[in-house]
Amino acid sequence: MSILFENVYKRFGDKIVLDDVSFKVKPGEILFILGKSGMGKSVTLKHIIGVLAPDAGKITVDSMVVSSMQGVMRDQLDQVRQKCGMVFQHPALIDSLTIFENIAFGLRTQQYQEKMKSEVTEEMISDIVHDKLALVHLNPEILQLFPFEVSYGVQKRVSMARTLAPEPAYLLFDEPTTGLDPLSISSINELIFELSRKLKVTSIIVSHDMACALSIADQILFLDQGKILLMATPGEVMKSTIPLVQDFFKETKELLPPNWSLS
Ligand SMILES: Nc1ncnc2c1ncn2[C@@H]1O[C@H](COP(=O)(O)OP(=O)(O)OP(=O)(O)O)[C@@H](O)[C@H]1O
Ligand SMILES: [Mg+2]
Repeated sequence: MSILFENVYKRFGDKIVLDDVSFKVKPGEILFILGKSGMGKSVTLKHIIGVLAPDAGKITVDSMVVSSMQGVMRDQLDQVRQKCGMVFQHPALIDSLTIFENIAFGLRTQQYQEKMKSEVTEEMISDIVHDKLALVHLNPEILQLFPFEVSYGVQKRVSMARTLAPEPAYLLFDEPTTGLDPLSISSINELIFELSRKLKVTSIIVSHDMACALSIADQILFLDQGKILLMATPGEVMKSTIPLVQDFFKETKELLPPNWSLS
């Protein structure tokens, strides 16, 4: 159960976005991807779920080679997407469906029925929806509301519950805390940590939040100018002398309490 990038190249026109990128995420690990805007973080996630294909190189999810599936192996690509739950930067809930139906969405698909190898009853769907809602610390009272009737922070949690419902083996988060107030940011960060550890799900988190990365990541990967500048544990990152890494860390230090240390 791992995600593997081997010598991946991707360019858009003249712009080289991924330039010989190789890394591995081991089972159960939490990997943070940090980097300045436009450095290819979202592009990296999109390669994992096969929304984008590399110009060269290989991407493997478990034993499935995602990089060779585009256009030719629709069924296998669906299988990869079933394994990888992606939480997008914006909640992207369906406005015309209640919160219950939004969370249940992935459970009503043919792929999910096939995965379960049996009929998925309404009772099972209701149990799963309530279970995931509790995981993201929301109250069942909101289930009959529509997305526009709840706050942005609640919508983010609902979108996480929707992603968790079909029980993906991997969780991919693209800037999960963007656009939230500081209190909601820290509660979403805690939630990601709790979910990754409790569900033992392998997670990749794209973020600008170095403080969060230092507190919950197993590995931190810095992308810059198409290259991996550094991939290391939080402890190693703190000792790094690479200027860009130090810049990220400098900003973070000001936000951390004076007696803060790695747990
Ligand atoms: N489908 C596309 N077509 C053309 N260019 C693209 C496409 N997707 C991404 N790019 C370009 O690739 C580069 C990397 O984009 P990406 O979205 O991965 O950045 P990012 O690191 O996620 O930045 P941010 O922190 O702002 O979200 C950018 O220059 C972007 O304009
Ligand atoms: Mg992005």
